[in-house]
Amino acid sequence: MSVARAYAATLSGIEGVAVLVETAIGAGLPGLTIVGLPDAAVKESRERVRSALRQVGFPLPGRSVVVNLAPADLPKAGTALDLAIAISILEANGDLPLGAGSSVTLVGELGLDGSLRPVPGVIAFAESSLRDGRRTIVVPAANALEAAIHGDLAVLPAGHLGEVVAHLAQRLPIVSVSPADYDERAEPDPEDDMREVRGQSLARRALEIAAAGGHNILLTGPPGSGKTMLARRLPGILPPLSRPEALEVTRIWSVAGRLPSHSGLVRRRPFRSPHHGATAAALAGGGADPRPGELSLAHLGVLFLDEFPEFRRDAIEALREPLEDGVVSVARASGSRSFPARFLLVAAMNPCPCGFLGDTRRPCHCTDREVSRYRKKISGPLLDRIDLHVEVPAVPAGDFHSPVESEPSRTVAERVQRARRVQSSRSGDPRFTNATLASRHLRQQIGLEPSARELLEKAMDRLGLSARGYQRVLRVARTIADLEGSEKTSSRHVAEALRYRPLLRTETRSRP
Ligand SMILES: Nc1ncnc2c1ncn2[C@@H]1O[C@H](COP(=O)(O)OP(=O)(O)O)[C@@H](O)[C@H]1O
Ligand SMILES: [Mg+2]
Repeated sequence: MSVARAYAATLSGIEGVAVLVETAIGAGLPGLTIVGLPDAAVKESRERVRSALRQVGFPLPGRSVVVNLAPADLPKAGTALDLAIAISILEANGDLPLGAGSSVTLVGELGLDGSLRPVPGVIAFAESSLRDGRRTIVVPAANALEAAIHGDLAVLPAGHLGEVVAHLAQRLPIVSVSPADYDERAEPDPEDDMREVRGQSLARRALEIAAAGGHNILLTGPPGSGKTMLARRLPGILPPLSRPEALEVTRIWSVAGRLPSHSGLVRRRPFRSPHHGATAAALAGGGADPRPGELSLAHLGVLFLDEFPEFRRDAIEALREPLEDGVVSVARASGSRSFPARFLLVAAMNPCPCGFLGDTRRPCHCTDREVSRYRKKISGPLLDRIDLHVEVPAVPAGDFHSPVESEPSRTVAERVQRARRVQSSRSGDPRFTNATLASRHLRQQIGLEPSARELLEKAMDRLGLSARGYQRVLRVARTIADLEGSEKTSSRHVAEALRYRPLLRTETRSRP
């Protein structure tokens, strides 16, 4: 009795792991058995494989077919093993020469008609194939560009099991896709340009500072004032993704099953705006075999949380770890997984439950207690991670019809990129931003002028700034100085930074 071997891959977190598929056909009751810790999806693959084999003219032999997935202690999920299982059965039964697929990684889900369907995680499977020394991978056609990102791998796209069989039997070779086919340029989204935002100069400036220093930002304003519009334009003023960053983003999106068909490297920074009803699992990631959630889909991009106080407590709680460490951990019986989740947070809220506190056009009917309860929902440790607080008032009608265009995103992005370069050369870390400046380094690195220190100390007394608030102002002031190309942090920079401290509720209350 001969044993046939084929190679596939499965996911462990966001990494691909090679899987060996062994098949033996022997005497015994006819039937197909799959062993090696298969989850429900792998069991279902039995039915798909059986039907697909019949479609290509090789029905299962009337004997006992045993498929073993190794390593046995590795939990295997998903449908990507179908193709390797089918090929290894064909080899064991003598329908293909033994060893025909031994130097190839085979991934893809089979349809009942034998068609090969796209699967999540193909970029990770391609990486595991390379690590394992197999320089050829067969993938569903819709995943081919993704598999070809690494370049040093022959990627064979297939639309049907029959094509794979013909290739391995050396009857009709599949032509590999060329990795040069994908476009490396990041086209800015012309739909979301800063140019279209009328007025709102304070908020536009705050977004520029947020982008330049990696600062999280809270926008407070009545409905319709343009908070969503502003937030959507933040990815467009951030520096373009470097190639390693683009790979990280692509891997996460692929593993989460969110990469569009026929797409290669993700070149644009993500923008995610989960609804306030989202569960903690939807944000952090979940499932029996956890997949990345919204926080990871926003990795290296922007996470926009509209109606911030309406988010569930446990969902807000799930933000804490990523905001501190740039990762999110998901605990499971099978052990905890951690996914990258380093994003810029843009939170938005109304100034009060009805939304019209401080609005000159409509009266607010909220009581003081309602207002303070609403604002308290976001107080505490999370607030400490939001350096910029900005009021976004309703745009006066005059501004709306003003013929004056705002600066285009491209111009702002150039300033942002310059400020980022200053920060990375100061720290020696290309990803470093002022927002992550540790408090113990603040004093040495900030180059605070004496007059600036005086101003800040006065502000602490007068505005009741906490020690935390003091540090927030310092970080923001440093970013403002970097945008200006100034080595010192002057009182002018501090004065501007003080405009972005948390709103004291008496300040809006007292307006007419
Ligand atoms: N400053 C602005 N400049 C241009 N259009 C604006 C501005 N503010 C709001 N709008 C228009 O009003 C619409 C609603 O704004 P939106 O961003 O959804 O407000 P919010 O999120 O604060 O409720 C936008 O789609 C846009 O067309
Ligand atoms: Mg909105």
